[in-house]
Amino acid sequence: MLDTTSFETIVRNRRATRQFLSTPVPSEQITAVLRDAQHAPSNCNTQPWNVHIVSGTKRDELSQALLHAEEKGEAAPDFSFDMADFFGIYGERAQASGKALYDILDIAREDRIGRREALLKNFDFFGAPHVALMFMPTFGDNVRTAGDLGMYGQTFLLSLKARGLAGIPQTSLSFFAPSIRSVLGISDEYRMLFGISFGYGDPAAVVNRLDAGRADISESVIFHG
Ligand SMILES: Cc1cc2nc3c(=O)[nH]c(=O)nc-3n(C[C@H](O)[C@H](O)[C@H](O)COP(=O)(O)O)c2cc1C
Repeated sequence: MLDTTSFETIVRNRRATRQFLSTPVPSEQITAVLRDAQHAPSNCNTQPWNVHIVSGTKRDELSQALLHAEEKGEAAPDFSFDMADFFGIYGERAQASGKALYDILDIAREDRIGRREALLKNFDFFGAPHVALMFMPTFGDNVRTAGDLGMYGQTFLLSLKARGLAGIPQTSLSFFAPSIRSVLGISDEYRMLFGISFGYGDPAAVVNRLDAGRADISESVIFHG
């Protein structure tokens, strides 16, 4: 008998976590998560993920570099990202998601300083002791490879959840890919797609109770036949 109940519990209760305890995760646990994520499927089994795990003083150094680059307005992502590209229902969902986050943080729409402080927490990895940075080699238009990294990322996140850990995928980290390559000595043959900050979620943090919700499957799925 398949244990679909525990699968459902893990998938449906995983949340983007935006406040972590500083307690480090034992290295055996991190290795176990990485071994799980390695089982993600990929086009022709190319396994194109190049993952950098950053902890300890290097994590602090990286956070400083990211905050510095952000302060200087040095955003230079390897892949474009513009919220203005989201049209129609996708734009509406993005706006609703931003509003729900600021509401739970009790930050008013016109409070630009409060919003900026909330944004900057991305670059301190929301207090997480570890961050996994997802890099990839470049093939063709890179879309298939990015799909493979998405498969890897979700497997990583679900493994964290199943092991009592928590994480948050972050495109925002990739806005400063050149700074990250410089701090970690990564070749520019590899491009960065997103990062995942991870550790133990802070159970007392209200922000971690945010339930982003999902559209009904009827909005996403068309049955034929
Ligand atoms: C690829 C990817 C990148 C994301 N980047 C960020 C980010 O930079 N900062 C952030 O606060 N949330 C980020 N998120 C989290 C999403 O906002 C979150 O997954 C979504 O609102 C659904 O909420 P849930 O993960 O709690 O179900 C990202 C999610 C994904 C999948």
